[in-house]
Amino acid sequence: MPYLMGLDISTTGAKALILRCPSSHASPLSRRENIIDDAGEVIAVANAPQPISQPKPLWSEQNPADWWDGISASIRQSLADSGLRGDDISAIGLTGQMHGLVLLDAKGEVLRPSILWNDQRTAAQCDYMTEVIGADRLLELTGNPAVTGFTAPKILWVRDNEPAVYAKAAQVLLPKDYIRYKLTDTYATDLAGAAGTSLLNVAERAWSAEVLAALEIPAEWMPPVHEGTQITSTISAAGAAATGLKAGTPVVGGGGDQAAGAIGMGCVTPEVIGVTVGTSGVVFAPLSSYAYEPEGRLHAFCHAVPETWHFMGVMLSAAGSLQWYRDSFAPDLDFDSLLTEAEDVPAGSEGLFFLPYLTGERSPHPDPLARGAFIGMTSRHGRGHMTRAVLEGVAFGLKDSFTLIDQAGLPEQFEVRISGGGAKSPIWQGIIADVLAAPLVNINTTEGGAFGAAILASVAAGVFEDAASACEALIQTGETVVVGADADAYAERYEIYQSLYPVLKDTFAKL
Ligand code: XUL
Repeated sequence: MPYLMGLDISTTGAKALILRCPSSHASPLSRRENIIDDAGEVIAVANAPQPISQPKPLWSEQNPADWWDGISASIRQSLADSGLRGDDISAIGLTGQMHGLVLLDAKGEVLRPSILWNDQRTAAQCDYMTEVIGADRLLELTGNPAVTGFTAPKILWVRDNEPAVYAKAAQVLLPKDYIRYKLTDTYATDLAGAAGTSLLNVAERAWSAEVLAALEIPAEWMPPVHEGTQITSTISAAGAAATGLKAGTPVVGGGGDQAAGAIGMGCVTPEVIGVTVGTSGVVFAPLSSYAYEPEGRLHAFCHAVPETWHFMGVMLSAAGSLQWYRDSFAPDLDFDSLLTEAEDVPAGSEGLFFLPYLTGERSPHPDPLARGAFIGMTSRHGRGHMTRAVLEGVAFGLKDSFTLIDQAGLPEQFEVRISGGGAKSPIWQGIIADVLAAPLVNINTTEGGAFGAAILASVAAGVFEDAASACEALIQTGETVVVGADADAYAERYEIYQSLYPVLKDTFAKL
């Protein structure tokens, strides 16, 4: 029975998951060979919460040593909970938060806390990148404009602001690849993660010599790149001693959390679009050939499925908006009770809007200075209205990305699948289906990226031929939320929503 492990270094936790894959065997009842005997299942999940620090406004950092302590503990815990030993695990897949900068010296020691994906300190460095490379060329090569959360401007920020640290730098890694290094003593990354650095030639699936040279970042600082299902290295003796895994176990490239999470939802072909409502909100569209959105309003990255790409719209505060709202205004209410109040409010919240730009925004407004707002408040509005406006504002933000993906060219027939912690609420799912005017298909798993990473490992272990057949065998679709009667009202409201950011943009910058 093959067991695969998925490891996820997310912003909130270091998670280890064990997937029991269906075994292939010759069935005595059939002349066909290689019958899959069952669907496979997740048999253990262990998660170690991770602290995050915001030492200054707009900053967001974590300590790589905390990830390593957390993931070592989670690996041990998942093995203990499943009753398995390290040598039962056939292969390991890695995933994690994208874009974070881990800088190491020549001895492999961490030089400073990691600067994370949601850190917004690098506006000046983004302007510099755009100037020296040229906006069009940067977009063409890397699939994206310079984005404050991406890795390259963070490297430049360290050069500009911490020259003593920069002088010692010898290696750049992404968060999950620091864990790969601790586990396997090898520097390596995956292409989906590498695409989020602004340093990859996304069409060619290789580091861009042109961008690295223009920014004067030494090419030898970048780790070798691999496809998601490719084996990068094996567990070292030290990695085994720290975790209980077996030395020699293969570790695959894996993927950035969005690409791996998309695989965990079965988004491996252009006909399956993924909507994820986590802290951030993502609309993910697989592509079979490289393309970029001409104005750079969508991310264009390599997918973790070999030789494929994807578009992605990312809003920075989706379930994060609801979490902030609950914590700030209704800390004594659980989410279910809070959302029940919103059910009695009509669609459109009687003219109240919420802009979800609480931590700045990326898609479709790459603006670190954008701010959240309630707009249209009257004395008639109460907490139920405000709650509903938050749910609707996030749905409109998702619609912004969905519309751009639609304009870039959706296939004639497609299915939208939904996942993420925020997506568990039926009222929110109903609002999102109505706002997108698209039915939403639920899936049987909620484990996201760690599950996707284990699927990528299953391909390397030879359990499945490729990611598509693994998804076919392991992912089942469940309830479909249909488009309801409020869709027309929301289409009108969406036009108003779209008109708000442009008129507030300059005010946000002044604030
Ligand atoms: C994707 C992104 C986030 C982070 C953290 O572009 O920034 O999904 O990877 O989850």
